[in-house]
Amino acid sequence: MPSCLVCERPIEPFLSFGQMPLADAFVDPARPADEFFFDLAIGLCEGCGTVQLCERVPDAYMFHDAYAYYSSTSVGMRRHFTAYAADVRRRLHAVRAPFVVEIGCNDGILLESFAAAGIRHLGIDPAGNVVAEAVRKGLHVQQAFFSARMAANVASAHGRADAIVAANVICHVADIHSVFDGVQRLLGPAGIFVFEDPYIGAILDSTAVDQIYDEHVFYFSVSAVRRIAEMHGLELVDVAPQAVHGGELRYYLRHRGAQTPSAAVADWIEREQATGLAGPRAYRQFADRAGRIRDELRATIVRRVASGQRIAGYGATAKSSTIINYAGLGPGEIEFIADVTPTKQGKLTPGAHIPVRPPEHFRSHYPDYAVLFAWNHEREIREKEAAFETQGGRWITYVPAVTVGPPACSASQA
Ligand code: TYD
Ligand code: ZN
Repeated sequence: MPSCLVCERPIEPFLSFGQMPLADAFVDPARPADEFFFDLAIGLCEGCGTVQLCERVPDAYMFHDAYAYYSSTSVGMRRHFTAYAADVRRRLHAVRAPFVVEIGCNDGILLESFAAAGIRHLGIDPAGNVVAEAVRKGLHVQQAFFSARMAANVASAHGRADAIVAANVICHVADIHSVFDGVQRLLGPAGIFVFEDPYIGAILDSTAVDQIYDEHVFYFSVSAVRRIAEMHGLELVDVAPQAVHGGELRYYLRHRGAQTPSAAVADWIEREQATGLAGPRAYRQFADRAGRIRDELRATIVRRVASGQRIAGYGATAKSSTIINYAGLGPGEIEFIADVTPTKQGKLTPGAHIPVRPPEHFRSHYPDYAVLFAWNHEREIREKEAAFETQGGRWITYVPAVTVGPPACSASQA
């Protein structure tokens, strides 16, 4: 039985997908056999309340010099990260000449705002290709995995940080104790550590089963983050919900005793206790709903294909790998998936091997239906592709439920 990455107690999965590919490992059509599969399963540690993957993939398999995901592909996310930087800067207002470190900076979408304000910064990211993009923008970036040892090196080379920031990164790191140890060492005495990740409460509420994939090792709750922080001399001092990626929480931490926690921390913890986030029942129910959504999505698609209608996908997201392979879909059902990312175009999706095409291909080959795999960017994509609906095309979505036809734009998106 796997053991908890936080407290080492045994954990049992509440949902197992069987053998799955890596969600961002797009396949070169010339070398389709070079695929890595692993047992994707998610469990709750009843000891410490942390939801996590049961089997982990080595970091170097996921975060390398051909990392498929570039952060700067969405206008909505650009707006979001500008506001994120402004939030951090407000909390740094009393600091003269602050130093900001970002863990997992990708192509620099968040660091850019600090750099533009003349703030001393350092990004750290293991993926060479996205680091090169950040460097091209003139940002200071070091290619490395963030760890306790690496953090100590940064502290001695550059001094301690006034702010350490991260977005959609901390939940990726299996060696969570090394990350929090590193933060503890690198963060100045009055510094603030800010990070945001998909919130387990939102994943459960909307049955976002496709948030589960290899890179998402942890599915944090406020209670879990507070507990992990305490294990490293840090304290959760504030929490703020974010309407991106289907619902995230932004966590604010400082050295223990440096700031009285806001009322929001206690409110969120109370709400989590009331909704049973630390017990197995909510997760068993989630797994049942996920299975029903998978069956319904598959039936919705297969029925239409059988009657001669054409279906494509929109957004070759990492999330789409989970739902596509879980629902047993392939190029026989989904003709292609449109995606704006050049490094994904011309490739095949992981596992299912559906071709990825540029959005221009979508516009010149409108299908009857398009499955919105980038459902977290619904408003942006539906605005951009309004002509698809005007000429009779219909969107299929599956979060929080399977719907066919123009769904109402949800609030939980960039
Ligand atoms: P995203 O949902 O941000 O993340 P993940 O891969 O972690 O699930 O990925 C968005 C994907 O959708 C990315 O590959 C870019 C693509 N995309 C488009 O093709 N067009 C768009 O207008 C937007 C907003 C995204
Ligand atoms: Zn545990």
